[in-house]
Amino acid sequence: MTLVVTPWSPAAGEDLLDLLPADERLILPALQAVQQGFGYVPKEAVALIAVALNVSVADVHGVLTYYHELRTTAPAPITLAICVAEACQATGSRELVAHVGANLAPVGGRSDDGQVDVVEVFCLGNCALGPAALINERLVGRLTTKALESALADARAAL
Ligand code: FES
Repeated sequence: MTLVVTPWSPAAGEDLLDLLPADERLILPALQAVQQGFGYVPKEAVALIAVALNVSVADVHGVLTYYHELRTTAPAPITLAICVAEACQATGSRELVAHVGANLAPVGGRSDDGQVDVVEVFCLGNCALGPAALINERLVGRLTTKALESALADARAAL
């Protein structure tokens, strides 16, 4: 699956929200749609959603801050998601996380050059080929620190 992210603008946000019915129960789907469309939920989108769904800004903000999957800052061009579920831990994912933390960024952080966000995930469905990671949309398995650095270099070269 290729994720196409559009640069945020209020007009693009309004166009997206026009596709949703004005139903106060749709705060979460509206936030998810904005994040899917723009890669994050910009601060300006909160007010647009409130108007579109006829709810308060506080209602939208409450949902936005409740769900950790929703992000309020733009993602780095590359997201490295390292699996730390059981099967991958058994094959060395914690060592990968430690290596990445020492050389790139800690989990939840961004590399100094602003190009890579590092996150943990719990199973990518690639358990037999662990340790596994997702670098943007590319699933990689049987990772060593060297293989991970090579995959990241490929991702950087593709930017
Ligand atoms: S446990 Fe890592 S991919 Fe399933």
